[in-house]
Amino acid sequence: MKNLFTYAAACLHNTAIDEKLALTHDAWHTLTNGELTFSEDVPVLAITEVRFPNKPVLLAPRDMPKRKMTSPEGKAAFFHAIAHVEFVAIYLAWDIIYRFRGMPPQFYQDWLQVADEEAQHFELIRTHLQTMGVDYGDLPAHGGLWDHAKDTAHDLLARLAMVPRCMEARGLDVTPAIIEKFNSIGDKASVALLTRILTDEVGHVERGSYWFKQLCQQQGVEAEAKYQQLIKQYYIGGKPKGPFNREMRIIAGFSNAELDWLETPP
Ligand SMILES: [Fe+2]
Ligand SMILES: [Fe+2]
Repeated sequence: MKNLFTYAAACLHNTAIDEKLALTHDAWHTLTNGELTFSEDVPVLAITEVRFPNKPVLLAPRDMPKRKMTSPEGKAAFFHAIAHVEFVAIYLAWDIIYRFRGMPPQFYQDWLQVADEEAQHFELIRTHLQTMGVDYGDLPAHGGLWDHAKDTAHDLLARLAMVPRCMEARGLDVTPAIIEKFNSIGDKASVALLTRILTDEVGHVERGSYWFKQLCQQQGVEAEAKYQQLIKQYYIGGKPKGPFNREMRIIAGFSNAELDWLETPP
């Protein structure tokens, strides 16, 4: 297997977790060795053909059991939730590659690097969870994460606005306080893990901003106005609620004007 889109199809249309992780790393290594081809003769199947494993069982957020993060059960539940976010993130990176063809090679290289990093994040969290006696799939998980992918399967600008520049950007807002909480209880392993992930996630949001602006420029549309329009159109409730991590979002390619708009109540 040497073609990027063949790897993408294999990762999206099969449920085996370990195989997906191995294929993702293999695709990235093949690219870094200069042996990956980008031949587009692999057909694009509808997003309804994407397959997830039978476990975890997916629940609506309101049905998820609520636990205090500092209890052992709460900590395991928290990291299980993060493992699921990372697992879906592997799919999101592969799907933006698979579904949106005709982009420059750098686009595919960037999102393949993201897929590889999301697979690493998933593996790190899964190993951390296993030290607590829990494996990925043992607990229920948030069922709504893939909805943004389905909603934006036909529109790359909307996908970039909603996934890296909305969902993943929320991680930049909320993770520092969670790291602080684990730090305050002396949980160094959790602090190290979440800090590593946060560093990579700034890069993912930055790539989202970069390609969003590139594509807007190419289409002759004004990027900041387009971002507002897409968030209003696709985000349930009009726009995400803050507080926003201004410093990290600026590094990740948000403008002050975009942040001012986000911070203004709807
Ligand atoms: Fe991640
Ligand atoms: Fe990410």
